[in-house]
Amino acid sequence: MAAPEESPLNADGTTPRIHALVPAAGAGSRFGAEVPKQYLDVGGRAVIEHAVGVLASHPAVAGVTVTLAPDDDRFGELALGADPTIGVVAGGDTRAASVLNGLAYIREQHDAEWVLVHDAARPCLDHAAIDRLLEAGLASPDGALLAMPVRDTLKRADADDRVEATVDRDTLWAAQTPQLFPVQALLDALRAQVEAGETPTDEAQAMERAGARPKLVMGSGMNLKVTWPEDLVVVRAWLDEGSG
Ligand code: CTP
Ligand code: MG
Repeated sequence: MAAPEESPLNADGTTPRIHALVPAAGAGSRFGAEVPKQYLDVGGRAVIEHAVGVLASHPAVAGVTVTLAPDDDRFGELALGADPTIGVVAGGDTRAASVLNGLAYIREQHDAEWVLVHDAARPCLDHAAIDRLLEAGLASPDGALLAMPVRDTLKRADADDRVEATVDRDTLWAAQTPQLFPVQALLDALRAQVEAGETPTDEAQAMERAGARPKLVMGSGMNLKVTWPEDLVVVRAWLDEGSG
């Protein structure tokens, strides 16, 4: 774990003020469990507790805010829900709307320059990956995101699910989180797009549409997003054996 004095600095040499935002207002419909996937248990703690814990314990992260579904009645029952240092704000109908609400809250409540947005459903993040992201992202107002080079051969399908073409994967990456951006720039970009009826699927896309070219930073194969039931099997094996 990097000591605070080893944390990377802003391009002008000042210490960055970094806040983390964890959108957790989703329903987990693809997973299909009775509870939203961020509340499933992994080794005695909920998925979201793992995700928030990695951020909150990083020396460069000053605070964490989570966005919850307006009718969420589970977060308050977690140990995390009793932690007064974690900010809580209502999310929206889409991930973009949830992140926008969280950013507006952070802008009001905290003196943060940078925001690390991280899915509640990614419990296997580690500090080394955050360090890589900060190292690359703090150097540029365009920000950065964790991502992995695509490993499989990619096929483009026609309307009949027949292969139309094999897509060159050499320049393709799969986006992960966290994603690091200046708070105000991301807030401006997301607000304009949400008000225009657009729904960027991640923060990088919102920034791209605003003209930025975020830096892709090597993530980790284990930083997977719990999406389908089999993902939980992998995540439990990884975290239970103490690798995370
Ligand atoms: N999220 C959110 N607000 C929404 C939708 C999603 O805060 N309206 C959050 C989820 O809780 C999750 C992250 O965004 O932490 C990534 O979204 P995803 O994996 O798609 O989660 P869900 O939307 O819950 O899952 P699904 O798409 O299968 O319903
Ligand atoms: Mg979703």
